[in-house]
Amino acid sequence: MATIRTFQDFRDAIAGYRLPRILLTALDLDLFTAIGAQTWSLASLARHLRASPRGLEILCRNLAAVGLLVKSRGRYRNSLFAETVLNAKHAGYRGDYLKLLQGQWDDWSTLTRSVCLGQPVVAGEELDETAYRRQFTWAMHHRSMDVAPRLARQLDLLRARTLLDLGGGPGTYALAFLKKNLRLRATVCDRAPALAVAREIAEQSPVGQHLSYLPLDFMKAPIPGRYDVVWLSNVIHIYSPAENQKLLRKIARVLPPGGRLLIQEAFLHDHNGLAPLGANLFAVTMLLFTDRGNTYSVREVTDWLMRTGFQRVSLLNMKAGTGDWEGGILEAVR
Ligand SMILES: C[S@@+](CC[C@H](N)C(=O)[O-])C[C@H]1O[C@@H](n2cnc3c(N)ncnc32)[C@H](O)[C@@H]1O
Repeated sequence: MATIRTFQDFRDAIAGYRLPRILLTALDLDLFTAIGAQTWSLASLARHLRASPRGLEILCRNLAAVGLLVKSRGRYRNSLFAETVLNAKHAGYRGDYLKLLQGQWDDWSTLTRSVCLGQPVVAGEELDETAYRRQFTWAMHHRSMDVAPRLARQLDLLRARTLLDLGGGPGTYALAFLKKNLRLRATVCDRAPALAVAREIAEQSPVGQHLSYLPLDFMKAPIPGRYDVVWLSNVIHIYSPAENQKLLRKIARVLPPGGRLLIQEAFLHDHNGLAPLGANLFAVTMLLFTDRGNTYSVREVTDWLMRTGFQRVSLLNMKAGTGDWEGGILEAVR
């Protein structure tokens, strides 16, 4: 997004909620699943969805304007993307992540209260409840299932024999590393309900038997074992600087000298901690869902690493679109 300098820029920035709201309404109606592989007249689609023809016409026209639907002679069909990724009846559906996004609209509406409180109004990321944890873990899998193999292709793990995926949730990254490195063995550590999802996913994978499970609250208990590599992806934004340094000390204890810690994170990259915008916006998500989470700069995290037993800290150069965040992988050697 460009810098806001004028009233028009400001107005346009606020009006940015319109398209997201349209997309979420389409998901609320499960419109893309209803359309499936067919072409529909508006009248029959309106009957099928129990929606008003007027409302649906305006909605579908907007969805066609952004290429999610194809409009031809007043009839509508899905684009290839909508028919696969957004259609609950298709194998490529990434619905659990879509549901997470749908739910967040209401949560973001509590932001003013959260800013005043400095706390979430709704419980989220730190919630231990089983059903929430399962759903969140599937959402994480649906988010990173295409990114993880791309990243595994570029990350050199050839000399590693053991890897700990700490806070690994669905184990999507661990499985991608195992697929690429057949001599590697990995352990995914997380809360028990998350690991149940990881097992279900691993059972469908040809390298699933190379994955072990460590149910643990790693903030409360010591981390057992010894690993050549620790992969810590999207975890430190949940915690405060003090908690993260405590965690890094624990991680240093499970690595041998020369062992590697790889951190994937929404890092801030500039001197003032203002860029990229995506990492700043993600800090707001942490305000809404965690008690102490935030996003941190590469410099800050490098300082923590140097204080907790690591050296040779470097930002890995990956091809664009490889990880969850641009420029988001930091390597440190124990
Ligand atoms: C945002 S998810 C990231 C999942 C995965 N690493 C990824 O990048 O897709 C954070 C994960 O860390 C786990 N986690 C956070 N704090 C934890 C703790 N104290 N003990 C165990 N797991 C924890 C959560 O359960 C969740 O699965």
